[in-house]
Amino acid sequence: MNKLTTGSKSLDELLGGGIGRGVLTQVYGTFATGKTTLAMQIGLLNHGKVVYIDTEGGFSPERLKLMAEKRGFDAGEILQRFIIFEPHDFKEQKRVISKLKRMVNEKFSLIVVDSITSHYRVEKNKQSLNVDLGKQLQVLLWLARKYNLAVIVVNQVYFDSNSNSLKPIAEHTLGYKCKDILRLERLSRPGIRLAVLERHRFKPEGGIVYFKITDKGIEDV
Ligand SMILES: Nc1ncnc2c1ncn2[C@@H]1O[C@H](COP(=O)(O)OP(=O)(O)OP(=O)(O)O)[C@@H](O)[C@H]1O
Ligand SMILES: [Mg+2]
Repeated sequence: MNKLTTGSKSLDELLGGGIGRGVLTQVYGTFATGKTTLAMQIGLLNHGKVVYIDTEGGFSPERLKLMAEKRGFDAGEILQRFIIFEPHDFKEQKRVISKLKRMVNEKFSLIVVDSITSHYRVEKNKQSLNVDLGKQLQVLLWLARKYNLAVIVVNQVYFDSNSNSLKPIAEHTLGYKCKDILRLERLSRPGIRLAVLERHRFKPEGGIVYFKITDKGIEDV
């Protein structure tokens, strides 16, 4: 299969059929918008092994188990497909990503870095940090192309006082490497979320779909 399904028909359509292989997809947004749920669900619903690099403790086996069971999967089998890494700082994150070159093979269909910038954002010297970040993305891109797998790069936002708006962290460094960019937003109606296609290789930008978060994970409204 060429794309990885998100499990939501409207999200798949927005993304031109699902999450692309061989490229990096950035998913960003404020807290509790569903980034982790979406990334876990994509691993859950598609065949193949999953590398999940959890930098902020957002990955929850209990949540994944619940989502699997509610969708009629054997939770034990699903959890076995996930290989979890928990780097505690940016240096360790760099080591983990570098190690993937020796570990990942044809059996893998997805790599998630959730999030790529939580350790980055606490470091001081952004200039040398951007070089490091770029290198990490380069390794991920190399893996994506070599094994034709999908890579989801989760990112956070910060308040940019110049433009008076929320912006993705390390926007430019990530923007060069992530060809497809999805922004998630919360709405005032509880449970309902919004996904905006900010950039895509072959779909027009600005497309919007609604989704909700339930026991099953991400669902169409
Ligand atoms: N079983 C469930 N049913 C419905 N909603 C749930 C369930 N479990 C978690 N949620 C909701 O999912 C949201 C959190 O989603 P998720 O962790 O994917 O967000 P996130 O974007 O990764 O946030 P963060 O930036 O903090 O990591 C919360 O609003 C939470 O209430
Ligand atoms: Mg999260």
